[in-house]
Amino acid sequence: MRMDVDGAPVEGQPAPGQCLRTYLRDQGRFEVKKGCDAGDCGACTVLVDGRPVHSCLYPALRAEGRDVTTAGGLAPGDQAHPVQDSFARHFAFQCGFCTPGMTVTASTLTEDDLPDLDRRLKGNLCRCTGYRPIREAVEHAVRGCGGSCVGCPGGTDDAAATAGANARPPAADRVVQGREPYTFDTDIPGLTHLKVLSSPHAHARIVAIDATEALAIPGVHAVLTHEDAPATRFSTARHANRLDDPRDTRILDSTVRFRGQRVAAVVADTPALAEAGCAALRVDYQVLPAVLDPEEARSPGAPLVHPGLTPEDGVEDASRNVVASWRGAYGNVGRGLARATVFATGTWSNARVSHAQLETHGSIGWIADDGRLTLRTSSQVPFLTRDELALVLDLDPATVRVFAARVGGGFGGKQEIFTEDIVALAVLRTGRPVAYEMTREEEFVRTATRHPFRVTATLGADSDGRLTAMDIEVLSNTGAYGNHAIGVMFHGCAESLEAYRSPAKRLHAEVVYTNTTPAGAFRGYGLGQVIFAVESALDELALQLGMDPFEMRRINAVKDGDKLGVTERRHHEDLVFGSYGLDQCLDLAQEALVRGNGVEAPEGWAVGEGMALSMIATIPPRGHPATAAVTAFPDGTVEVAAGTVEFGNGTHTVLTQLAAEVLGLSPAAVRLHTSDTDATTHDTGAWGSTGITVAGKAVHAAAVALRELLDDGAEIPEAGLTAHGETDGKIRSLAFNVHAARVAVDVETGRVRILQSIQAADAGTVLNPAQCRGQIEGGVAQGIGSALYEEVLMGDQGSPTNPAFRVYRVPQIADVPETEVYFAETSDSLGPLGAKSMSESPYNPVAPALANAIRRAIGVRPMEVPMTRDRVWRLAASAPTPTPSTSRDTRLASAGEPSPGGTLTSDG
Ligand code: FES
Repeated sequence: MRMDVDGAPVEGQPAPGQCLRTYLRDQGRFEVKKGCDAGDCGACTVLVDGRPVHSCLYPALRAEGRDVTTAGGLAPGDQAHPVQDSFARHFAFQCGFCTPGMTVTASTLTEDDLPDLDRRLKGNLCRCTGYRPIREAVEHAVRGCGGSCVGCPGGTDDAAATAGANARPPAADRVVQGREPYTFDTDIPGLTHLKVLSSPHAHARIVAIDATEALAIPGVHAVLTHEDAPATRFSTARHANRLDDPRDTRILDSTVRFRGQRVAAVVADTPALAEAGCAALRVDYQVLPAVLDPEEARSPGAPLVHPGLTPEDGVEDASRNVVASWRGAYGNVGRGLARATVFATGTWSNARVSHAQLETHGSIGWIADDGRLTLRTSSQVPFLTRDELALVLDLDPATVRVFAARVGGGFGGKQEIFTEDIVALAVLRTGRPVAYEMTREEEFVRTATRHPFRVTATLGADSDGRLTAMDIEVLSNTGAYGNHAIGVMFHGCAESLEAYRSPAKRLHAEVVYTNTTPAGAFRGYGLGQVIFAVESALDELALQLGMDPFEMRRINAVKDGDKLGVTERRHHEDLVFGSYGLDQCLDLAQEALVRGNGVEAPEGWAVGEGMALSMIATIPPRGHPATAAVTAFPDGTVEVAAGTVEFGNGTHTVLTQLAAEVLGLSPAAVRLHTSDTDATTHDTGAWGSTGITVAGKAVHAAAVALRELLDDGAEIPEAGLTAHGETDGKIRSLAFNVHAARVAVDVETGRVRILQSIQAADAGTVLNPAQCRGQIEGGVAQGIGSALYEEVLMGDQGSPTNPAFRVYRVPQIADVPETEVYFAETSDSLGPLGAKSMSESPYNPVAPALANAIRRAIGVRPMEVPMTRDRVWRLAASAPTPTPSTSRDTRLASAGEPSPGGTLTSDG
């Protein structure tokens, strides 16, 4: 069979039933990405005879005799198609995994398509950008502005990457043409493939596994079971201190604790043979009682998920399924509430959310020529992964190398070991190169979700609007394993309570095991869940007092120099205000809301405005060390070596800018060697929004040291002149975000339309405004998804029932309005060149701001996210008084008459 691919003939014979995507990738056409294999995400889009198709749904045989064009063939030679050039200039990508497919679709559009852009691009999902720069890039390419118009932030490359310049991401040209390699965009000779058999039970003991039939299949090389796995327990979560998480996981265990957990793995010549091997395994289970609800899990007599674990293992009370708890208090909460003029109390709950990064988890492992176990993996944490694998597999860390290519999105989901351990075991067992690439369904079933929280908040305020007491109870469900359970609970509670001054605070938080899909690290790390409750309750106080909610925050929020701590005896001595821009953020967001944007609500829809704030520490607690090196060469170039990973967080751009700025070079003179345990001596990893504040700081220090050497007259030898930098990441600053929104609600259907979306951010010195704006827009888009659409639905076995993008609603381009982004003018004394982190935090205040706007539109408070259409319809239908119309009384400036406090329920 013959087809033309990017103008060149390709001859071959597809396997029976093979789709065009895998056929093209078998030919080395790695521009064609895999995001879902179900026609939902568009990462695999190619042109067939000029028409965009999802190649994962298109039979390869149907392409016989046709012209197939990938992102790499849209323009002749190495040139970029005009739409690809526009994507690069407009920062229309972050991780870039969606970008080749997106540019293929966009290349077919004309000016006539622009009014219908939402429909024309609806088959291409982007999880990172929030779509605004994509929309702009397409519009500008189609209209042929050539980068000269306002809105082309990277239209000209900046000669010097000064702080504040829109330096173009170093990989931009390769990303937009699909030439930038991701984890699986490589050829490894003799590669074998690993597939996993899933548990059909929520809780069971494996009595026996008969692998006879599987091993008899030609091409099957090995079956791995718990009998092959080391006894050492670990956590899939990775932190600088491995003891931060309970050691409750084995690579393969004799007990399965959630439906979908690994039971066994099969290694074979092809993925299909490995799957056939899994199907041929005969497993005998002893089914055990399961507990699915977190409240039931901590009740007497509940089935125990990890009965044998102790505090030594990092589990506080296995006899109650409690992984950890936190009780803290100061002042007299009872007295504070008694003297309150108004109070608000209620229980808010958050659904499970999937990271839905477009690149699924996966690793390729092999024994390298130097004899080392080598892993190429989609990880945010190569160093921490190497160290833990060495410990679990009883290897010398020096004999293990872990590195990442560009990672196609993470959002915290790749701060885990979900594939590397089983691949490493398979490589050691077979001696062969082994790949394990998760399917989209596996992502939902076997990785992690955001922790579902139930948060009961009781807040009181006096007649001036000053808080008199805050009483917060949190119950977090970590599922069957405790990866990130403790950190998410502590972090979620800390900065959400510490963002406010109150004479009395009380906190009781617990995180429990259940026999459900594990939860893990997710953008915001618990803050979004608790902030949803706190900011909703505060809004209720403002409503009762007839007070402007911005003013309510001005009165009560922390001020520059405050000591922070949930209990007054335990201040965080490591948290300092390196800068403070919350006051500016409140002003900027309010001014924008008052100005409005002219977007009108549909006739008859109810309109409301809402806002919320969030605070976040710029570095996770208790140290986040990183090292870096910068080497100058006689040809005037430099190489930056750092351990951190680029997964859409813009780290590569900023590291380039920092080195170029300090050394007075053009960004083009800077090369990067990152994401590799061979690159430097240690890096904690790309999590906790530390790209700038930790890795950036280490690179900045190395560049400054090199500058000093050069200023002192040091010669640059042929092999280069190297200087080192490091940071321990122990002293942390604080960053702020304020989100505001005006929404319209159709009370007849429950539809919510965001009329105006505003976010003001305190990011310190903004090193790259176009890129930082993109981070904020992407965070807001993900926040809108969590607030209005996204929910991993759990079945009666405690596992997802909607494990596909067709039934799990990631926002499409039509769902995301443009967000006005404003920056406070601050400069942080701790961050490199005055910068602070801004990756996770924009996500956190979005859901409460939208909930507060919906509350003011329909008169009933949402207590649950996502605020789906059916839920909002029910709320509106339960409104005790006629639903407000589109009148001005729903504006925040005149919130209504004071009223006595009360208990909020899901009925309002
Ligand atoms: Fe679109 Fe990451 S840039 S999915």
